[in-house]
Amino acid sequence: MSVPTRSGRVTVNTLRRMKQEGEKIAVLTAYDASFAQVLDEAGMDIVLVGDSLGMVIQGRETTVPVTVDDMIYHSKAVQSQLKRSLLMVDMPFMSYTDPASALANAARLMQEGGAQMVKLEGGAPQVDTVAALARHGIPVCAHLGLMPQSIHKLGGYRVQGREQQAAAQMRDDALALQGAGADVLLLECVPEALAAELTEAVEVPVIGIGASPRCDGQVLVLQDILGITPDDAPRFSKNFLTGSDSIQAAIAAYIEAVKAVEFPAQEHTF
Ligand code: KIV
Repeated sequence: MSVPTRSGRVTVNTLRRMKQEGEKIAVLTAYDASFAQVLDEAGMDIVLVGDSLGMVIQGRETTVPVTVDDMIYHSKAVQSQLKRSLLMVDMPFMSYTDPASALANAARLMQEGGAQMVKLEGGAPQVDTVAALARHGIPVCAHLGLMPQSIHKLGGYRVQGREQQAAAQMRDDALALQGAGADVLLLECVPEALAAELTEAVEVPVIGIGASPRCDGQVLVLQDILGITPDDAPRFSKNFLTGSDSIQAAIAAYIEAVKAVEFPAQEHTF
């Protein structure tokens, strides 16, 4: 299991050490205090308050309507129960259009919401913003591949980086974001070969969702692993409640499967 700091908390240093030692990082979303407590007690390395809350909590069609105030409301609830897991919080749509607004909004997520790391979507265009956040001591996760906040521009949810040029761009983006000070990269819906190459190319941990078992860790949406939305569950997800006799057991099974590199399997990989 991961080696937390003396305070018992997972930090950016813990995550780096886990990458170096080949221990997989388990990440799951949570949006409220009850589930945050269950995830923390199960030994989740990172709890993500994702802007997926727009869909799974608020019933919206996309993540686009989610606001900074929404993120703070849910982060506060989650943070109240975390004793060990690192709290990562999404910066919502349009909250980081330039370094100054990113700094102001990340400060709110940390000071009011209790975030220990913020996550933003984007490649090279976000380099200056990531550098500004890093310079001010704000840990950052940069989300590459499928970026749900750009869904209206993308025209649909599909695998990214299949074409040579797109793959080359993602490689350049990953290195540039690491160079700017990103502490973690997250790849969503990326083919296995590219995900493996990027994971080896960078020193920072790479978390995947639909990006093969060859990333340094995995993230899924809580409601998907509990089978709450079976008709909407993406192909890269798995219902861990099937075969478990409680929610706690399902969450423990998810962590074990990630650590043992049993999840994601071939059928969850592109
Ligand atoms: O918002 C979210 O939950 C996310 C994960 C799907 C990675 O960004």
